[in-house]
Amino acid sequence: MFSFALWSQNYNALKPHFNGASVIGNYPEKPLIFTVPVSGERPLEISCQNLPEGLKIDTKTGIITGKINAKGTYKLELKAENIHGNTSHVLTIHIGENLLYTPLMGWNSWNVFEEDINEQLILEIADAMVSSGMRDLGYQYINLDDFWHGAHRNTDGSPTYDSIKFPNGIKYLADYIHSKGLKLGIYSCAGEKTCGEQFGGNGYEAIDAKTYAKWGVDLLKYDYCFAPYSKNKAIDRYQKIGAALQNTDRTIVLSICEWGLRKPWKWGRSVGGHYWRITPDIFDTWEGKHVWHKSTESIIRKAIKVDQYATVDAWNDMDMLIVGNYGKGKATSKGGKYKGMTDLEYESHMKLWCLFKSPLIAGCDIRNMNEATKNILLNSDLIAINQDTLAAPVKLISKTKGVFVFERKMQDESYVYAIWNSKNKKQSFNYLKLSKKLSENGKTSTKNLNSNTYLNELPKKLELAPHETVLFKM
Ligand code: GLA
Repeated sequence: MFSFALWSQNYNALKPHFNGASVIGNYPEKPLIFTVPVSGERPLEISCQNLPEGLKIDTKTGIITGKINAKGTYKLELKAENIHGNTSHVLTIHIGENLLYTPLMGWNSWNVFEEDINEQLILEIADAMVSSGMRDLGYQYINLDDFWHGAHRNTDGSPTYDSIKFPNGIKYLADYIHSKGLKLGIYSCAGEKTCGEQFGGNGYEAIDAKTYAKWGVDLLKYDYCFAPYSKNKAIDRYQKIGAALQNTDRTIVLSICEWGLRKPWKWGRSVGGHYWRITPDIFDTWEGKHVWHKSTESIIRKAIKVDQYATVDAWNDMDMLIVGNYGKGKATSKGGKYKGMTDLEYESHMKLWCLFKSPLIAGCDIRNMNEATKNILLNSDLIAINQDTLAAPVKLISKTKGVFVFERKMQDESYVYAIWNSKNKKQSFNYLKLSKKLSENGKTSTKNLNSNTYLNELPKKLELAPHETVLFKM
C-alpha cells in the first residue's frame, strides 16, 4: 500500500522534535560543546538521565558543555518536553579520533559578505542562528572566511586580526558564539598569502594553530592559493596544519579547500582533514561551464563521480549553500554577473546537497531570510537525510533523457529516492516503471513524497519542472 504525506517544512512545528546529528565526536580531554538540536515551541526542556561525568547540560537550551577524558562511546538518553508533548532520543558521543560522524552544519561569511565582515555582523549572525531556529535544526558553526586578518603578523610570528573590524578580538567573538552553544570557524591558507592576499599560513602552522586554539576557534578552513601545484606538496602542507591543530588543547575541525584539483577525497582524511571541497567555488547560477566559477549543476555532476569516497569524517564538500542569495551575494554574484536562481532551483540545490551528504554551510544573510529560504534551509526532513548516520554511497539507478534517479539507503533500512531533472525543460518521468522496479526489490511502502502537494494515489507520471528534484522515502 502506498500512502503519501507532504514533506514537512516544519521549521516552526510546535511539538518537540530532535534534529541534526545524533552521533558526534570529540577528542579526549578537550572541551566539548554541542547544542542538542530540538525544534518545537519554547519553553522546552531538554534533559538527560545519564550524562557522562565531566559534562553538563543546560536544560533550557540543550547546550552540553564539559570534557570527557576517557576514549569510548557514550550514549546519552535525552528527553525533550513542552506543552505539546514529549519525545526521547539517544545522542551518541564518540570520544576518540573521529569528529564528524555526519556532515558539518553551519554558516560562512564568504558568499554574501566577502571582505565586508566585522564583529557586529558576526554577533548578529550568531543571534540569527538562534532566533531563526537554525540551531534547533542542527546548524552550529559560524565560519569567518577570508579578510579577518591584520596587516601583518606579530614579531613573534603569531597571527593578528583586523582590530578595526574586530575591536574586541576573535576570542571575544568565540566566547559570545560559545555562550549560544555555537562554534567558531576561521580561515587561512596553505600558501604565502590567502586567496584574498592576506597573510597565509605556510611555515606558521604551529603558532597559528596554537593562537586559534587560544582564541577558542573550533574549525579551520584551509585554502590553497599562492601554493605549489604539486599534489605531494599540497599533502605535505595539509599534513602540517592537520598535525598542528591536533597538537592544541581544542577539538578543531580541518576543512580542506584545494578545490578538488588534487583529488583530496583520496588523501584528505589521512592528513587530518574532515571534509574537502570537490570543485572550485560555487557561483549563484544553475548552469554554466566556467572552469573557476562553478554552477550548481556542474557541482552536482562532480558529486556523482566522487560520492563513493564520502564516508564518516571524510565528507565531500560541494561548497557553501547559495540558497537565498538571489544574485546579491558579493562573492557569488561576481558584481552582478550571476543573477541568482529560482526558489525551485535553490530547493533542488539543497535537496541534492543533502542527498550527497555535503556539509550544509548556509551562505546567505540569515538575519533576513524570506519564507522560501527558511522553508529550504530549515526543512527538517531534508536535513534528516543529510544527517542520517548510515554513510553508504548514493546509487544512480537510472538516467534517461537527463532525468536522474538516485537511491540512498538510510540507517533505519528505509530508502530515499531523488528524481532530478537536469534539463532546462519540463520533463515527465514514468513513475510506474520505477515503482515496478522497486517492488521487484521488495521496497513497496512509500512513506513520503515531496511534491509540494498532497497525493492520494501513485501518479503514473511525474511532471518535473526544469531543474526540479523530487524526493520520496520508502
Ligand atoms: C577561495 C575559496 C573560497 C573563499 C575565498 C576567500 O576562492 O575557495 O571559498 O574562501 O578563497 O578568498
